[in-house]
Amino acid sequence: MKIDEARNYHKIDAVIVGAGLAGLRAALEVAKSGLSASVISKVYPTRSHSGGAQGGIAAALANVGEDSPQLHMFDTIKGSDYLADQDIIELFVNEAIKTVYEFEHMGVPFSRTEDGRINQRDFGGHSSPRACFAQDVTGHVLLHTLYEQCLKHNVLFFNEFQVLSLLIENDVARGLVAWDIRQGGLHIFHARAVLLATGGYGRAWKVTSNAHANTGDGVGLVLEAGLPLEDMEFVQFHPTGLYKHGILLSEAARGEGAYIINDQGERFMKKYAAAKMELAPRDIVSRSEQTEINEGRGIGGKDYVYLDLRHLGKEKILQRLPQIYDLALNYLKVDAIKDAVPIQPTAHYSMGGIPANAHTEVIRDAKGTVVRGLYTAGEASCLSLHGANRLGCNSLQDAATFGRIAGIRMGEFCRENAYNDLPAEPLAKAQAKIDRLWQAPGKEKHADIREELQVNMTKYMGVFRCESEMLKMKAIIKELQERYRRVAVDDHGAAFNLDLIEALELENLLSFSEVIVEGALARKESRGAHFRTDFPKRDDGQWLKHTLAWRRDGKIVLDFGKVVVIYPQYQPQERKY
Ligand code: FUM
Repeated sequence: MKIDEARNYHKIDAVIVGAGLAGLRAALEVAKSGLSASVISKVYPTRSHSGGAQGGIAAALANVGEDSPQLHMFDTIKGSDYLADQDIIELFVNEAIKTVYEFEHMGVPFSRTEDGRINQRDFGGHSSPRACFAQDVTGHVLLHTLYEQCLKHNVLFFNEFQVLSLLIENDVARGLVAWDIRQGGLHIFHARAVLLATGGYGRAWKVTSNAHANTGDGVGLVLEAGLPLEDMEFVQFHPTGLYKHGILLSEAARGEGAYIINDQGERFMKKYAAAKMELAPRDIVSRSEQTEINEGRGIGGKDYVYLDLRHLGKEKILQRLPQIYDLALNYLKVDAIKDAVPIQPTAHYSMGGIPANAHTEVIRDAKGTVVRGLYTAGEASCLSLHGANRLGCNSLQDAATFGRIAGIRMGEFCRENAYNDLPAEPLAKAQAKIDRLWQAPGKEKHADIREELQVNMTKYMGVFRCESEMLKMKAIIKELQERYRRVAVDDHGAAFNLDLIEALELENLLSFSEVIVEGALARKESRGAHFRTDFPKRDDGQWLKHTLAWRRDGKIVLDFGKVVVIYPQYQPQERKY
């Protein structure tokens, strides 16, 4: 295929992949500085998964109770099971307050205290009401407000475009190639700086709170480009996924006082985290739930427990938690004012991702060597802010704060650096991917392979892990990768070829899932969301380190990097709640 120079070649200072909070916040910063910024998104921007974050955005505003950035810092370090880098957390908690006030000034309709300040509620693992919220639709209103701001500042959007290859040569990013989902055809985006803000990848699991789009395309592209991923073994399970659907029922419910109960009507968290109860960090609450289920105390002996909001009363439920009320009613026909809601742990958030430094520059080794012109922010990235377990409401803040930092840094980089030449055959890799799928000899269906991956990841790579089960998963992935070679795409049309898109996504799902399994097998300890029944203790002597993983010659190669521990008062200690 020859590129249509006029239509399909775009020269833009900063190209941002992903239209969630991180991508939009970065684009806004670049555009406000007078440079050209484009956002490439496989969905319409306001459908990005940041809109699914419900309960709040963390900042130590101290509008409701006492708080400070130092306390926010300690809670985040402890929540991370001491794996997070403390320099990154320090930067984050100090910027967080500014980030929320910026949103307020953009017009975000936050819920208010009686005296008119931004309201804040309790969230798991935070020792003060720290989640600034808009009912239980916080991500939704932040996303819409940011999108409006981006339009106002002339950010150029390429909606429904799927990125197929990164153009990186000699460790310098030069742009990327994307497929136009609506009309078909490859487009070259020639850029000075590229940001990967492609979000999480919960769609490798059957039960997940993640949107259909969350297939880890960004991390897949990075692996394909010969770059590493970091700490991929740490995947968060949210304790209150709607039973069987996995859809998020916000932690805001528990922040407002909801209980979690077992078959005996017992608030079982008193056995596992007596001080924090339902507001312990997510790794602990999810494990506790799963233990109750595994030991036969799920409701009716089944694989779910109850989220009980009834005592909150109709007015509070409808005023503070209208979305989760609707979700329970629409998907399970449960009226949460009258009945308890069936819930189970759901794959929710990826602590690992594309390694980057505090400036959001992508790094390619444990020494921190930078890939020039390549940036990452939001859930796709691993800075490492969340370590082994993220605290709720820190993710919207992470996306917005490091999105802004990425925008500032990309702007500076663009001003100081000319466009680099494109590689000789910029379309070759992207075109080869499409040709291969259209010409594959076999009869394998991508939907069947994806289903097998998801079912088995839920079975073997869940809240509890052990070597024998992970080895089974490793073998399953190898077999699925083999079958993927024979995936045939029936639809050869250009417009809205979702057959093709889903086949392309599957390659990424298989690719990063293998990294998750290899990282989890290697890490012979339990820390945060990575709990191994065969190694149930944290082992700081051996494992206070970050995992870096590359795909080389078809195999996953691991290396390890140092955790930044800077303050004596934040040295690793036993985590009690
Ligand atoms: O429960 C929630 O509202 C999710 C928030 C988050 O993941 O930060």
